[in-house]
Amino acid sequence: MGSCMRTQDIEGIEIGLLLDGIFRVYGYDFREYAEASLKRRLAQWLQKTGLGSFPEAQARVLHDRELFSGLLEGITVNVSAMFRDPQFFKALREEVVLHLKTYPFIKIWVAGCSAGEEVYSLAIVLCEEGLQGRYRIYGTDINEKVLRQAEEGIYSLERVQQFTQGYQKAGGKRDFSDYYTARYDYAIVSEKLRDNVVFASHNLTADAGIGEMQMVLCRNLLIYFKPALKERVLGLIDGCLPNGGFLCLGMKETLSDRVIAGRYTEMVRGKRIYRKQYV
Ligand SMILES: C[S@@+](CC[C@H](N)C(=O)[O-])C[C@H]1O[C@@H](n2cnc3c(N)ncnc32)[C@H](O)[C@@H]1O
Repeated sequence: MGSCMRTQDIEGIEIGLLLDGIFRVYGYDFREYAEASLKRRLAQWLQKTGLGSFPEAQARVLHDRELFSGLLEGITVNVSAMFRDPQFFKALREEVVLHLKTYPFIKIWVAGCSAGEEVYSLAIVLCEEGLQGRYRIYGTDINEKVLRQAEEGIYSLERVQQFTQGYQKAGGKRDFSDYYTARYDYAIVSEKLRDNVVFASHNLTADAGIGEMQMVLCRNLLIYFKPALKERVLGLIDGCLPNGGFLCLGMKETLSDRVIAGRYTEMVRGKRIYRKQYV
C-alpha cells in the first residue's frame, strides 16, 4: 500500500508527525491550523533553514528550542496595520465607545495583536473619545518576536503613511503625527499611548482566558484555524466576556455559524462587532 502513496500524501504524514512532536515537546498545538496556509509556510521555513526534509527538521526541532522559535515565527502570519479596516475603527468610535463609557474602568483584550498596531490604534480612539486613564489594553500573541516589536512601538515611516490614511478614514480627530516622534526612517509611538497598555505572551490554543474583559478583539486570526479550533477559541473568549461585553472579529470572520452565536447580536452590521446579550 505504501508504494501506492503519492509523495504529497507522505509529506502530509511527515508534517503531521512534526506537528505532533512539537505539541508533545513544546505544548504548542498547530495540528488544527488550516492546512493549505500552514503547509505553505512550513515549506518556506524548511527552505530557509537549509534542512533537507520534514523528518530531518523533526529530528532537529524537537531538541533545539531556538530552531523551534524560528519555526513558530515562520508559520505565524503577522500582517497587520494601524487602523486596518478603517470602517471598523470608525464604527467602534461612533457606536461602541458610548457604551464603554458607562463602565468605571474598561479592560480590553487584543488577542493575536502582532506588533501592536491594533492596540495603539485602539488607544488613540479611546484617548480621543475622552477615556484616557480609564482603560487597560492587554495585547497578547503567540509570537515573542512581534511582541518585542509591539513593546518597542517602532514602525517604519513608510508604514506610517499607510497608518495615517487609515487614521483619517477612521474618523481621526487630530493630526496623526501627534502620536509619534519621527527619528531617521522610523516613527516611535508616543508615551501617552503606551500608558495602560500591556503586552504578554499567550497561546489561544493552549492557555486559559485572561480574566473578565469588557471587550475582546480577535481579528484576522480565526481564519487560520480549522472549524473545531475556531469554536474552542471562541468558547475561551466567550468565557472572558460578561453580558453586554463586545466581541470584535476580522472582516472575513463571522460568528453566524458558531455554537456561541445565539448569545450574541451583531451590533454594527457588517463590521463584525458583536455584543453579548443580557439574558
Ligand atoms: C494576521 S495577524 C492579525 C493581527 C491583528 N489582529 C490584525 O487584525 O491586524 C495574526 C496574529 O495571530 C497570532 N497567532 C497565531 N496563532 C496564535 C495563537 N495560537 N495564539 C495567539 N496568537 C496567535 C500571530 O502570531 C499573528 O500575530
